[in-house]
Amino acid sequence: MSLEAKRQAAAAPAIVRVELDARGYDIHVGRGLLARAGEFAKPLLKQRRVFVVTDSMVAPLYLKAATSSFEAAGIRVDHTVVPAGEATKDFAHLEQVLDAMLAAKCERGTMIVALGGGVIGDLAGFAASVLLRGVDFIQIPTTLLSQVDSSVGGKTGINTAAGKNLVGTFHQPRLVLADTDVLATLPRRELLAGYAEVAKYGLLGDAAFWTWLEQNGAQALAGGEASHVLLRHAIVASCEAKARVVAADEREAGLRALLNLGHTFGHAFEAEMGYGGALLHGEAVAIGMVTAFDLSARLGLSPATDADRIRKHFTAVGLPVAPPTRGPRGAITPEMLIAHMAQDKKTKDGALTFVLTRGIGAAFTSSDVPLPVLRETLAAALAG
Ligand code: NAD
Ligand code: GLY
Repeated sequence: MSLEAKRQAAAAPAIVRVELDARGYDIHVGRGLLARAGEFAKPLLKQRRVFVVTDSMVAPLYLKAATSSFEAAGIRVDHTVVPAGEATKDFAHLEQVLDAMLAAKCERGTMIVALGGGVIGDLAGFAASVLLRGVDFIQIPTTLLSQVDSSVGGKTGINTAAGKNLVGTFHQPRLVLADTDVLATLPRRELLAGYAEVAKYGLLGDAAFWTWLEQNGAQALAGGEASHVLLRHAIVASCEAKARVVAADEREAGLRALLNLGHTFGHAFEAEMGYGGALLHGEAVAIGMVTAFDLSARLGLSPATDADRIRKHFTAVGLPVAPPTRGPRGAITPEMLIAHMAQDKKTKDGALTFVLTRGIGAAFTSSDVPLPVLRETLAAALAG
């Protein structure tokens, strides 16, 4: 094969299938997919109309291209634009989105399209799941985080004062279009936040993928033609890993909980910092994963050198590895974080559940963490 043929083969769209019988769907990963949204959506439509939900950052960049693609396929397009940012994932904006859908006279056959990052995917997916008792939706994720994680698997929801994602539904999309070209406009901080979720798949269950990331991650994040092929490989590997887990345990009866590696800690850091952008979800997850490996080392389950390896790689690419020490309420204490953790969805009979590890690639869940060890781990993390 010539070099050019190899380059083209490496850049061709990949399809990852989420095997859920009649509710199964394809994730397309590759370049130029946004311009083909109408072509991909058309066979899935019950009526020739879609309603696009997007945010104020994504709309000026990609709403026109998406609309043109649907219209070129003979599909009517209505849309609503909500403010960009995590604070939009709330009851007030859910109501606003549903009102906009009803004002546009969406019907049961109207396809909802989530065009944006994880905030839009979670909010629009939730709205689709309750509009007229449930309508179909398509995910067009535009951040790295949403391409490798939130657009796949059907978890939808909003945040409340009590914490992250505590209100929501399971509602699988009919299709996911992960166009890697749109990542070119993503701020580097957001790209890195998404990379934390890519790294999660290696850390929880695939040591070889983690080693690949240690060797290629920085280059994949560097931008440009050479990085494109590496980034695409990382996205496909991540989607394959998530698709396998979701197919085996859609409703998180067991295995799927491993995808929450770093999230019990991460959600507590996020809740304490507020959802105004001081700490991005992916950044919180990165710090949370380091903390989970530290906790596992303190419990004698995994080598401390694994936590050091993660710190080293995250620091090299530019991800944070220690939690913020001050938030809107002042100095952050272990007790403040533990109080947030008690609100976690994974709490069972009041006991906190953690994703722990026996080393890189060997995560498992446990409700058996002594409080003093948890407190010590958090105190050490907060001390930097
Ligand atoms: P986000 O949706 O807030 O997007 C980040 C920022 O990037 C926003 O300001 C957005 O407007 C902007 N943006 C999006 N695409 C862009 C592009 N191509 N170019 C320039 N700017 C762009 O955040 P996110 O990191 O994508 O998602 C985080 C959310 O995902 C959290 O709410 C988290 O709880 C959720 N999540 C859900 C799941 C799930 O399974 N449902 C999994 C992981 C995370
Ligand atoms: N992000 C965790 C999950 O989808 O299950």
